[in-house]
Amino acid sequence: MAELIDLLIFLIPIYLANASPVVLGGGAPLDLGLRMPDGNRLLGEGKTIRGFVGGTLAGTVAGGLVALVYPLPFFDGQSTQFIAAFLLAFGTLAGDAIGSFIKRRAGVGSGKPFVLDTMMFLIVAMILVFPITNAELYEPMALVFFAGLTLIMHPFMNMVANKAGLKNVPW
Ligand code: CTP
Ligand code: MG
Repeated sequence: MAELIDLLIFLIPIYLANASPVVLGGGAPLDLGLRMPDGNRLLGEGKTIRGFVGGTLAGTVAGGLVALVYPLPFFDGQSTQFIAAFLLAFGTLAGDAIGSFIKRRAGVGSGKPFVLDTMMFLIVAMILVFPITNAELYEPMALVFFAGLTLIMHPFMNMVANKAGLKNVPW
């Protein structure tokens, strides 16, 4: 069983990549305004290029700094942990965008709450990093911890962002 502290530190690039677009985002939408045959946007106004790039960079830098000071047992050396930081950050934003794609196809408007909001980014990040990490990260207990903590932290952080005036809605 992995150490709790290692599991928590592993999550840093994911959580930072997911949270930072609220501050870093804005400007041109990632889908460039494209609409699908269903009449809805491909991704919508909530997914911007700046948010995607900024979130990926913020998560990569955070995970990279972690790699400098805290070697995690899930990776075979520092350079692998650096690559993992990028894959986790990029996977988080990719998962977030995939979630919006599914949301739009389901006819749910941008900014409205949706079941996938809390999980999709974590799932895609975990899938992308899978090839360069060990089985310890995918033990049932670790996965339950990741999912459970994220289910609590995601709504909590959104509430904080709303109270701080960074987000119009508390979800
Ligand atoms: N954001 C961004 N670019 C991204 C992701 C997020 O600019 N790639 C910013 C947007 O300002 C967005 C806010 O962060 O409104 C909150 O993100 P999120 O809740 O994921 O987006 P929603 O607005 O809820 O849109 P959707 O319904 O598509 O998830
Ligand atoms: Mg939202």
